[in-house]
Amino acid sequence: MKIINLGSKELASFYVACELFKQMDYSPDSKLGLATGGTMTDVYQSLVTLLKKNQIDVSQVTTFNLDEYVGLEPEHEQSYHYYMDDILFNQYPYFNRQRIHIPNGDAVDFEQEARRYNQLIESEGPIDIQLLGIGENGHIGFNEPGTSLESETHVVDLTESTIKANSRYFNDESEVPKQAISMGLQSIIKAKRIILLAFGEKKKQAINDLLNQPVSKDIPSTILKTHPNVEIYVDDAAAPDLKNS
Ligand code: PGA
Repeated sequence: MKIINLGSKELASFYVACELFKQMDYSPDSKLGLATGGTMTDVYQSLVTLLKKNQIDVSQVTTFNLDEYVGLEPEHEQSYHYYMDDILFNQYPYFNRQRIHIPNGDAVDFEQEARRYNQLIESEGPIDIQLLGIGENGHIGFNEPGTSLESETHVVDLTESTIKANSRYFNDESEVPKQAISMGLQSIIKAKRIILLAFGEKKKQAINDLLNQPVSKDIPSTILKTHPNVEIYVDDAAAPDLKNS
């Protein structure tokens, strides 16, 4: 696992956008695992700039989003469908819609939807680059503390900590969905390369825990220690304590 402090969100996001851009440019049939949340906004903005300036063909790229809230239809402004359209797919409208995959938060049967999504990743994967944020409680995707390390795509109950953290995007905490469909920890670590981003002081503890605690379902992010190809990019505020300072 490699951790690099790139100083600021802006620089780290630009660096990661370049990595995504190169992946698609070199391998037009790339499979990308995409994440949402406040952490990722600048990554997609920089990526859109690079895509527009270079006009690369993304029609053969396949994308899988990590998660979606249960009960939010794709048009809902806080759904991750809406987020992705707004920030990437509508900005560079040359992705093939048939190859864009996001769990359906408006499904009739969410357990079945989770199984369908898992099978899709199994049959279309492996993912070349999986983007990840991290929760203040150490979650990756919506895999909350206590999630089985063996989990595949599943329906999760969001913890109070996550509901509170994500309430900043809603009018009121009571509007935050209580459940989500999330790629599981096993689904995530099947990716060939994983890039995790963390910015701001609120993420510092989660980064310290990821680096220093043993692999345990109590801190879901620690499963990344079992993967051979993980990079973590942070800003100054989220950077771990250095041994020699
Ligand atoms: P954030 O969420 O980017 O909105 O902080 C990250 C996460 O919870 O994984």
